[in-house]
Amino acid sequence: MQKNIRNFSIIAHIDHGKSTLADRIIQECGGISDREMTSQVMDNMDIEKERGITIKAQSVRLNYEKDGQKYVLNLIDTPGHVDFSYEVSRSLASSEGALLIVDSTQGVEAQTIANVYIAMDNDLELLPVVNKIDLPSADPMRVLGEVEEAIGLDCTFHNLISAKTGLGVKDLIDSIVDRVPSPTGDENAPTKALIYDSWFDNYLGALALVRVYDGSIKKGQILRMMNTKVEHQVISLMYPHPLKKQDTTEIKTGEIGIVVLGLKTLDGIAVGDTMTDAKNPTLEVIDGFEPAKPFVFAGLYPIETDKFEDLREALNKLKLNDSSISFEPESSIALGSGFRTGFLGMLHMEVIKERLEREFDLDLIATAPTVVYEVLKKDGEKVVIQNPSELPEPNYIETIFEPYVKATILVPDEFLGNVIKLLNDKRGIQLKMDYIGKRVLLEYDIPMNEIVMDFYDKLKSTTKGYASFDYEPIGFRPGNLKKLDVRVAGDIVDALSIIVPEDKSVSRGREFVKALKELIPRQLFEVAVQASIGSTIIARETVKSMGKNVTAKCYGGDITRKRKLLEKQKAGKKRMKAIGKVNVPQEAFMAVLKI
Ligand code: GTP
Repeated sequence: MQKNIRNFSIIAHIDHGKSTLADRIIQECGGISDREMTSQVMDNMDIEKERGITIKAQSVRLNYEKDGQKYVLNLIDTPGHVDFSYEVSRSLASSEGALLIVDSTQGVEAQTIANVYIAMDNDLELLPVVNKIDLPSADPMRVLGEVEEAIGLDCTFHNLISAKTGLGVKDLIDSIVDRVPSPTGDENAPTKALIYDSWFDNYLGALALVRVYDGSIKKGQILRMMNTKVEHQVISLMYPHPLKKQDTTEIKTGEIGIVVLGLKTLDGIAVGDTMTDAKNPTLEVIDGFEPAKPFVFAGLYPIETDKFEDLREALNKLKLNDSSISFEPESSIALGSGFRTGFLGMLHMEVIKERLEREFDLDLIATAPTVVYEVLKKDGEKVVIQNPSELPEPNYIETIFEPYVKATILVPDEFLGNVIKLLNDKRGIQLKMDYIGKRVLLEYDIPMNEIVMDFYDKLKSTTKGYASFDYEPIGFRPGNLKKLDVRVAGDIVDALSIIVPEDKSVSRGREFVKALKELIPRQLFEVAVQASIGSTIIARETVKSMGKNVTAKCYGGDITRKRKLLEKQKAGKKRMKAIGKVNVPQEAFMAVLKI
């Protein structure tokens, strides 16, 4: 019965205790016995456990009894990192309420605010929850004051909890039952369900996690995906649970469930798409559907050139499970054959690179990440550029468009000057500056290219780690941009080209060659490292030659010492790529991150 269903999410800034609270709620509802309880059951992937972050949203269906009434609670976990904000918004769209968790020793942070905006867009009932009250430094009243001030949320009704000890968690579940509205779908209307997550299971194939809005989904039914237009039969249905999924024959109005369609890839079941009955379809699509788009691109090249096919196979396997990765073969004069690979953001890129190296035993060279540019050419053609070296010659270009993000930053006022300077340096445009107690809430539009690199690290170091930051993509805008090439010993190295704002091209060119000079080891001869725009050289550094051969020092006498030296040189070469006659180490391809 819909009136006894509660669908809710948990939103919080990273580390404020979302996964710990999810564990406690599951335990309190008897969803997992004490014996089965490992810490953070909702974080399934190894990398999630190691890094303590949530990447894929997980959900769980729980049973709860209050005042003699039986309730079904569907807890919809959301990923905690900005790269995965698309999944946050789909998860929130599947709920009627959200617990807004704030760490009582920290207070409101950028991500809290960004997620609250998404929750408000979805008209969710927000329950303020102050966590970690077991800690001596907890200051729940100050934190509640901040929630009221920063978010404008009435906190008269709130819950104080310790997700760690379980204090206050039962009261919180009672609040969920009392305050989160039940779903209100039409049970007799045609099937209408939102796919809010999908993943790949080795035994069952592609799985879609759905929220049913109207009608129901039954075993054997033929479903149509309204945006991708493909049709599939339902093989089986389950209720989600991190350890023991429960089979069912029907997912009813207002419920969430897992649909098994017997597919070998995730292609047909995109997150955000609407499922309906093929014979009796609903007329309205659930709006807001946009396929998750990669924003950051980098070249991935196997260090051993004969591992190219292995890399292709590995990427294909990962894509079964993560349809947001894109890749196509590319070749670089400098690096040989590899793949231009698209990611949702920098963390996503790191995770994928790590999984490729760890699970598939590959040694990879990654080129510096870049955003996607749209180029309008003089002949009216529009091209999408995922690799700076592909930018057309300047005289063919009408306008280059670059992606922008809206950034939300919270910073103690003593660091405000530093942060504003950094944002100006990164071409940010101020939209908002509000004081919340002794901290300042900033909203800026910034070119995405400026933040994919090392923005977060710089922000942290310039604020002693006190600033928090979140962002969401807001589309493309024209930019005055140029391609900057790097020449090593006179030759352009395609894998080092970058796109820079024209008014900063000279300073960035200088910093870039300086960073490269430090990273390219001395060779037997002098090496010029130059930055150029078109045919104009704008900066130059020289890597001095190492002069005499290092072995010369051995006077031909001590043969073991000589061999050791040669072996050391050989080992040093392993992670290098020979560019012409010059050996360039992996780090140099990331040098752009240092400017
Ligand atoms: P992401 O999954 O990365 O978004 O983080 P999260 O919000 O899920 O945080 P998580 O549950 O991993 O908790 C972060 C840290 O805070 C962990 O070390 C927890 O043990 C700790 N923690 C969570 N809740 C409490 C609490 O109530 N009291 C104390 N003392 N520590 C807590």
